[in-house]
Amino acid sequence: MQPEITKTENKKIILSGIQASGDLTIGHYAGAIRNWVELQQDYDCYFMVADMHAITSRQIPADLRRRSLDVVAMYAACGINTEKSALFIQSHVTEHAQLAWILNCFTGFGEAQRMTQFKDKSQQHSDNINVGLFSYPVLMAADILLYQADLVPVGDDQKQHIELTRNLAERFNHLYSPTFTVPEPFIAKEGARIMSLQEPWKKMSKSDPNANSCIFLHDEDALIMNKIKRAVTDSGTDIVFDIENRPGVSNLVTLYHVATGKSIKDIEAEFAGLGYEPFKEAVGKAMVELISPIRNTFNDLRSHPDEISALLKSGAQKASKQAFKTLRKVYKKIGFVEPIR
Ligand code: TYM
Repeated sequence: MQPEITKTENKKIILSGIQASGDLTIGHYAGAIRNWVELQQDYDCYFMVADMHAITSRQIPADLRRRSLDVVAMYAACGINTEKSALFIQSHVTEHAQLAWILNCFTGFGEAQRMTQFKDKSQQHSDNINVGLFSYPVLMAADILLYQADLVPVGDDQKQHIELTRNLAERFNHLYSPTFTVPEPFIAKEGARIMSLQEPWKKMSKSDPNANSCIFLHDEDALIMNKIKRAVTDSGTDIVFDIENRPGVSNLVTLYHVATGKSIKDIEAEFAGLGYEPFKEAVGKAMVELISPIRNTFNDLRSHPDEISALLKSGAQKASKQAFKTLRKVYKKIGFVEPIR
């Protein structure tokens, strides 16, 4: 079904985002941001900082404010072109909450209950299982559907949420008439699930209490080298990509691929017979080469708050225009009386 929205320049649309609940890691870069940078050439892009999603777990207000701005600066430092792509903070565009409410009324209780991330997070935060956490994927669906996104580039842990978004879009289109584009996930073949450096059978997570498990995009060079050196590898000495049997070394191969763009096959050939030490040295250096310019640009941008404010203002303006258009259409279809202005 074709949506009724006319897209600018006939370009397809992308929306994606990251929660402002912690500092960004190489996992966020590998699974999401590097693909955004690549895809922004060919798509009309909306990249947001999900501050509303972040409050589903308790946040210290000053930290949330600082982190939201950190994420904005990190997007730009990683290569998001803020003149081309709209970069904005979710709560700055009020339509997200408005559409989320409506979509809540089209989501089955059982459907939301089946979300594995809800189950995981309820276990992690058993002292605060709030309704926001439960309807978190519905807000995510609103984020995506407001912009008529064709493609949503994410890491593989978000697949189920995109599936729910697709179901909601199809349900609404079917009940009324074509309104929303039904989005496709974009999950890269490599890097969609970067694992912990200390427990490589677990996803790398910013909230891991073991600081060595995770590389942050603001880590200093020596720290990055050190974390890679201490990364847990498997028994055996050869450098092979075999996630099931050699998760530790496979994770490092993936990180090397993300940093250098070399294929997995070429990486295996490059280090054949060399053992862990020179391999880890090379991975560490490649990580430093990737992260060090990002960190420097990030620090520079963070010391220019006016630049951040300006890009957020224009990003929110561009986003609001599209979001308002979709929401007005939805209001009409469900029978809300048009407001008298
Ligand atoms: P979040 O904030 O947990 O993660 C943001 C993005 O980074 C990816 N990611 C990873 N990829 C590979 N390996 C890892 N270790 C890793 N850790 C994180 C995630 O898959 C994701 O793509 N609900 C979303 C944020 C969101 C959103 C949206 C995303 C809100 N609205 C609309 C897309 C579209 C979340 O919590 O992601």
